[in-house]
Amino acid sequence: MRVGTLTGTLLVAVVLAMGCAGPKTEDGAQREEQEQRQFVVGMSQCNLGEPWRQQMNKDVAEAAKAHPELKIVFKDAQNKSEVQQQHVREFMQQGVDAIIISPKETEPLTAPVAEAYRSGIPVIVLDRAVNGEDFTMFIGADNVKIGRAAGEYLVKRLKGKGIVVELKGLMTSEPGKDRHNGFLEGIKGSQLQIVFDPDCGWQETRAIAEMNSALSRFDKIDAVYGHNDPSAHGAYTAARQKGREKEIVFVGIDALPHEGINYVKQGILDATFLYPTGGKEAVDWVLRILRNKEKPPKKVVLPTRIYTKENVDAGGEEIP
Ligand code: FRU
Repeated sequence: MRVGTLTGTLLVAVVLAMGCAGPKTEDGAQREEQEQRQFVVGMSQCNLGEPWRQQMNKDVAEAAKAHPELKIVFKDAQNKSEVQQQHVREFMQQGVDAIIISPKETEPLTAPVAEAYRSGIPVIVLDRAVNGEDFTMFIGADNVKIGRAAGEYLVKRLKGKGIVVELKGLMTSEPGKDRHNGFLEGIKGSQLQIVFDPDCGWQETRAIAEMNSALSRFDKIDAVYGHNDPSAHGAYTAARQKGREKEIVFVGIDALPHEGINYVKQGILDATFLYPTGGKEAVDWVLRILRNKEKPPKKVVLPTRIYTKENVDAGGEEIP
């Protein structure tokens, strides 16, 4: 063997050894991290225009951080059901390991969710329900219970009698229907009277417009029940412009720290009810399903709390 060849062979061996044991480049480290991610989860969010939805995605991302084996692919449907239907199809084509979806509306999302589920992909439905049973599990708070609690609270607060404006959330979504039906249960037998109950689609701007018409139609309004805090806040803004905010009690739902809870602290809302995003719970369950091969319950009901000026500093109070 010639010396030149030997040197060449040695060189190749040294280079190869360095390649294996040498310091990792940034690219290499990233690649390795990606390869460790065994599970790809598609997360379809119905919109990111509302603070509560941004919080849900944050909760999902935060919970997933602790699990390097999980890769979450976020999609934003920009409040369009057709776009969200497309998300589910894309996730199926990509062959994701699981889907988390917070649907905009019940009807249009029922079929795509069922199709994904029947194809064998675990589907976790978050916060707004779909019809039927063709999904792996549903995670969310009990909106009938929250609506009922809001009704009972106002009955007490108004001493059993008063004129109420209800600013509904999107009535083609389950939380809108449930928060309405629960509220009716809560005020049953009292002399609280709902004089106006427009659908505000969860939007503050629509709540302002609808409250303006309520204020011009009714000289006396005792309370506003907003299906979410942005609606209740919108109603307050409209009433304040007419100098009538002090005659009205405003109640909302969501209780985000920088939104509803803050409004209670500022005296804008009389009460807000916690509607947890379920983001963390969805990540926990996705792991239990994919990694531990657990069979999840069909429904996980998240707890709720009430925040008023009396209890807000102490962290609110659980509603049993
Ligand atoms: C955000 C939101 C929340 C509400 C929830 C109901 O899109 O409107 O304010 O509590 O959706 O699904």
